[in-house]
Amino acid sequence: MKKVENKNILEIKDLHTYFYTDNGIVKAVDGVDINLKEGSTLGIVGESGSGKSVTALSVMNLLEGTKGKIVKGEILLDGKDIVNISKEEKRKLKGSQIGMIFQEPMTSLNPVLKIGDQIMEGLLQHSDMSKQEAKEKTIKILEQISIPRADKIINEYPFQLSGGMRQRIMIAMALVCNPKILIADEPTTALDVTIQAQILELILELKKIIGMSIMFITHDLGVVAEVCDEVVVMYCGRVVESGDVFTIFEDPQHPYTKGLLESIPKLGVEVERLDSIPGNVPNPKFMPKGCKFEPRCKYSMDICKEEEPPFFTFDNEHKSRCWLCKKEYGGEL
Ligand SMILES: Nc1ncnc2c1ncn2[C@@H]1O[C@H](COP(=O)(O)OP(=O)(O)OP(=O)(O)O)[C@@H](O)[C@H]1O
Ligand SMILES: [Mg+2]
Repeated sequence: MKKVENKNILEIKDLHTYFYTDNGIVKAVDGVDINLKEGSTLGIVGESGSGKSVTALSVMNLLEGTKGKIVKGEILLDGKDIVNISKEEKRKLKGSQIGMIFQEPMTSLNPVLKIGDQIMEGLLQHSDMSKQEAKEKTIKILEQISIPRADKIINEYPFQLSGGMRQRIMIAMALVCNPKILIADEPTTALDVTIQAQILELILELKKIIGMSIMFITHDLGVVAEVCDEVVVMYCGRVVESGDVFTIFEDPQHPYTKGLLESIPKLGVEVERLDSIPGNVPNPKFMPKGCKFEPRCKYSMDICKEEEPPFFTFDNEHKSRCWLCKKEYGGEL
């Protein structure tokens, strides 16, 4: 995958999103910087609870109705702030500028509305198309994503479709207004392997045709290698490493990234057990004082317990948040 040198279409700057729960504050996203370049696919990886979805929900303004709140930071779409804008402006943004697909399409589709009406809803909301025009556009987009019998499917209900088909419908809904950005949060996790591959292929194909930028959230580094240009690795609400996909796979600097890479089963190699990372993500209420990964890190040093490492930046905008990058501790910088 080529390195893309384009401008940033989405900039997340020092984002802090906290949940104010009855049991205290959960710092789900705690100082995250992410840049999505125009036309590029950015993978966000990390174990469960690292803040991947909350980052996406913050961008999509979908925290309403939860105890979550953006407490600090900026989110810029094409250079314009999208956090401190009116409700009306936020509503317009959703769907028309940023589309999102989720892991479980059934929970995001309305079970009592016909497929066609659900896709058309976005079009009617965000454009001045007539119903007939919206219907034609809907059939066109369904054909574009290889849905057979599109003119029949629009009159069916979600339960009549398979999981893979439903995910295709979600993709159609996300793309119908030609958004600049697609955020895909584990879009294939709930699907079986062959369907997963088809959906991935579809997303890549659409990216080529439409030229949109994609933020792709996944547990699966194999998928990242296949579809992403850039990678951001998250741990405990922070970015711990970021860079282009080649660098992250060939020259990872953070022990957490290395652990994730070692846990990918390799083709043709007998694996007795997955060499995954020992230990668990710390309880948000008892976060380590220094590096959040220190308790699980086999390279842990005294400084790691005391002080959270800053970002160390290598060539190629490759960044790692680990003291081992520093010359003093045996690193290059
Ligand atoms: N609605 C909520 N109320 C309270 N805490 C929440 C809520 N949603 C998420 N969190 C907390 O925020 C943290 C980050 O969660 P998030 O869903 O972003 O993780 P994730 O990286 O997407 O994980 P997964 O891979 O399991 O999807 C977790 O500690 C989670 O418990
Ligand atoms: Mg998630």
